[in-house]
Amino acid sequence: MDKVIIFDTTLRDGEQAAGGSLNIQEKLEIARQLERLGVDIIEAGFPVTSPGDFEAVRLIAKEVRSPVICVLTHAVIEAIDQSWQAVKKAERPRIHIVLSSSDIHLFYQLKKSRQEILEMSCDAVARAKKYCADVEFSPMDASRTEPEYIHQILKAVIEAGATTVNIPDTVGYATPDEFGGLIEGIFKNVPNIKRAVVSVHCHNDLGLAVANSLEALKRGARQVEGTINGIGERAGNASLEEIIMAIKTRQNFFNLTTSIDTTQIYRTSRLVSELTGFAIQPNKAIVGANAFRHSSGLHIDGVIKMPGTFEIMDPKSVGIPSSSLVLGKTSGRHAFQERLAELGYSLSHENFDQAFSAFKELADKKKEITDKDIESIIAQELRTVSEVYHLDRIQVTCGDRGIPTAAVRLTAPDGRVLTDAALGTGPVDAVYQAINRLVAVPNKLTEFTVKSVTEGIDAIGEVLIRIESGGITYTGRGADTDIIVASAKAYMNALNRLLAAKKATG
Ligand code: KIV
Ligand code: ZN
Repeated sequence: MDKVIIFDTTLRDGEQAAGGSLNIQEKLEIARQLERLGVDIIEAGFPVTSPGDFEAVRLIAKEVRSPVICVLTHAVIEAIDQSWQAVKKAERPRIHIVLSSSDIHLFYQLKKSRQEILEMSCDAVARAKKYCADVEFSPMDASRTEPEYIHQILKAVIEAGATTVNIPDTVGYATPDEFGGLIEGIFKNVPNIKRAVVSVHCHNDLGLAVANSLEALKRGARQVEGTINGIGERAGNASLEEIIMAIKTRQNFFNLTTSIDTTQIYRTSRLVSELTGFAIQPNKAIVGANAFRHSSGLHIDGVIKMPGTFEIMDPKSVGIPSSSLVLGKTSGRHAFQERLAELGYSLSHENFDQAFSAFKELADKKKEITDKDIESIIAQELRTVSEVYHLDRIQVTCGDRGIPTAAVRLTAPDGRVLTDAALGTGPVDAVYQAINRLVAVPNKLTEFTVKSVTEGIDAIGEVLIRIESGGITYTGRGADTDIIVASAKAYMNALNRLLAAKKATG
């Protein structure tokens, strides 16, 4: 059985999704989880696009040692040099060069001839090769490029030293048979193709990214690129968890294997969703809330008698926690620690203490603490940005008679206690207005969502917001049994991210 190389680009193409922005610590946390998942390659970022990306790649390269750490770069000498600086400390670095190949990109965007592009591609690979043995080359928009030209480019870049050639369906235009044909044609027509790994990278504009990727694997590609939960530009990238589970579940059909520890899929998916703020649709294959839920009586009856009647995968194989154990007020440190371990968390002493006191505080307000509550606690307590302003307390009056009013008390970076009050169209607006009077950073609220973590009237409410300032989006999250408090926490979280980013860039 051949092994498929799993190339994860959640931190690069995934993060390019509109509204997606992760800070450096969050990127590192996702990279560590991807390492636990067992991906072969992590594309950690596009360092020339921002100092934040450069720093994130540098940190991941230093800290995450098992997978290959890859950087994306334009086919420009200075960009390649700079990208190398970000990734050079990796145990196994890779430089990934991208350059458009389709006529529509060459004519309208790059204003270059095919010959010029061919030369730029080879020069770029040769430059990267000076630094790094492992070089990947992607002719962007390959699926809309004349195949003969793709063959010519691939032959030349392999000659120049590319060890992986990646075929992107950049705009998600291809159909499975067509895309499979392109891959087959490459094996037939590129004489030195055996010297490189053939990779594929599919986008989901027509909902065909996973189907196209699997078809390419059937026709000989041995590296597949995608993201967790399928996040990415526009309609997203191929969803890695779907590809991995298709290969595993239909091994009799594909005759392929991967190095993935599939029991880490659920956790990875939850982490990516929590940190990016992109919710997972309930019917999403593999990781959606309904993916293993049966509602028809006939199906439930079948599954009770023999799971295989209506379940083609064991939920445990993707790491969905099997226990429905519920903790409460009387649960001690030991029970909490055991539950955390079962959920796959291993916390430092200090983080554990912090999480345990948040758990106790919640248990005072809520009778039953479920796994989802615990995940929310961990997200809140351990993933807060270092605070610039700290929210001390809020007091709100609202109802259908009076004007919603909020009083807020914050602690400023220099330790001063700041208090103010404001009116609003509703209680959340009043709180935000009061905070704005104290923090005074211009921004625009672009998204506000509230959801309950579990069922029941005493459930934790989780608020996710996005604010925009200077063309950059900042995400904020807050959770509390009181949704006004959760909203205030989410806003402070987003503002603190904005202020931290402003400070970092001077
Ligand atoms: O979609 C695309 O073409 C890309 C390349 C960088 C591989 O993301
Ligand atoms: Zn892409």
